[in-house]
Amino acid sequence: MESRGSRNGDLIMGFVVVFAVLLMGSTGSVTASDLKIDFYAQTCPAAEVLIKYITYVNVLENPSLSAKLLRMHFHDCFVEGCDASVLLDPVDNSTTATQVEKQARPNLTLGGFDFIDQAKQLLETVCPRIVSCADIVALATRDAISYKFGREMWQVPTGRRDGKVSLASNAIANLPPPFFNLTALRQSFSDKGLNLIDLVALSGGHTIGVSHCKTFLNRLYNFGGTGKADPTLEPSYADVLKKSCPATTTDNNKTVEMDPSSSFSFDTHYFTTVLKKKGLFTSDAVLLDDPAAVAAIERFRDSDNFYKQFGKSMEKMGGIGVLTGTDGQIRRNCRLVN
Ligand code: HEM
Ligand SMILES: *[C@@H]1O[C@H](CO)[C@@H](O)[C@H](O)[C@H]1NC(C)=O
Ligand SMILES: *[C@@H]1O[C@H](CO)[C@@H](O)[C@H](O)[C@H]1NC(C)=O
Ligand SMILES: *[C@@H]1O[C@H](CO)[C@@H](O)[C@H](O)[C@H]1NC(C)=O
Ligand SMILES: *[C@@H]1O[C@H](CO)[C@@H](O)[C@H](O)[C@H]1NC(C)=O
Repeated sequence: MESRGSRNGDLIMGFVVVFAVLLMGSTGSVTASDLKIDFYAQTCPAAEVLIKYITYVNVLENPSLSAKLLRMHFHDCFVEGCDASVLLDPVDNSTTATQVEKQARPNLTLGGFDFIDQAKQLLETVCPRIVSCADIVALATRDAISYKFGREMWQVPTGRRDGKVSLASNAIANLPPPFFNLTALRQSFSDKGLNLIDLVALSGGHTIGVSHCKTFLNRLYNFGGTGKADPTLEPSYADVLKKSCPATTTDNNKTVEMDPSSSFSFDTHYFTTVLKKKGLFTSDAVLLDDPAAVAAIERFRDSDNFYKQFGKSMEKMGGIGVLTGTDGQIRRNCRLVN
């Protein structure tokens, strides 16, 4: 860990010098929302390239980081808007009323916090108190997914500021659980200004990453209290999952790939999986309940269609409830309100 940090540090400092110079003079353009493309062009011209660099280095060493960042960004944006509230550590553990988002039930497998700390530390040395934690999460997520493509898969307008509130109760109220039906998922997304196509495209995020067995055990053994598997789950796949996740498992850490044999690869394979009734969660399976959603799934099996819409939907998601201007603050430490 230590030696990796200092090696990265040396490489990065070289990078800073070159790119801080190269990037001077680029100008920001205004987008529909209050966010701007290249918001830090004047105040910290190297910010985006540094985030990209440190993200690439870390994803190369640790491929599971891409999924962790993508899920972190989703959880951040759905709770209090994209304001890095998901990063805040508890400051008072005395009552459940003051539990932060991280301590809420849906937090499981949230990861990547150490990486965000590392990126923030780098930016604080180059331009102190300029780049928000919320922008770091949004940019690093884009870069972590884009890494394997060698191009930016979507635009990330910046200028988000960091929030001061993080409550577990807000996470529970705003994050859709994996057992939601389509009606409830649509409502949850439309509450955030996202439509059915966004829901289908963004669910494609499940093309990477893992889930804990206990998250979907009910679909395997006792769906709706029937004592049987969920009939909408392909039976032979249910058997495969049962082998990985025995009913009697006591290992709370056991995980399975959400998109089997393709879980490190950001691709269209999730949609093939869902069409074969092998979506892992109820929330994946129910996308087949609506003809318009099915049509979208079929379109998204084509990578051009999927990447284009995923990018659009990520831009929309990245704009949910953002704090801009003089709202919020630029945190010094992403885990603590200043
Ligand atoms: C549609 C509603 C959604 C539901 C119900 C849902 C639910 C879940 C659940 C339960 C897990 C696994 C947690 C565990 O480890 O047990 C998970 C993982 C994940 N989700 Fe979602 N999710 C949804 C939408 C999204 C969206 C919009 C994105 C991003 C665009 C996303 C990205 C991910 C990723 C990348 C993982 C894997 C994380 C890792 O490997 O560390 N999900 N999701
Ligand atoms: C609160 O609990 C968390 C998790 O157990 C711990 O990491 C943190 O240090 C605690 N904070 C305080 C202020 O006690
Ligand atoms: C997740 O939330 C639960 C409470 O629902 C808590 O017991 C657990 O420690 C949290 N996990 C992490 C990694 O913070
Ligand atoms: C969907 O779930 C909600 C509860 O979350 C329930 O009230 C509703 O009846 C369900 N709708 C369908 C179509 O099953
Ligand atoms: C689960 O993971 C935690 C943290 O990584 C570890 O402390 C614990 O021993 C693991 N539990 C099992 C049953 O492997």
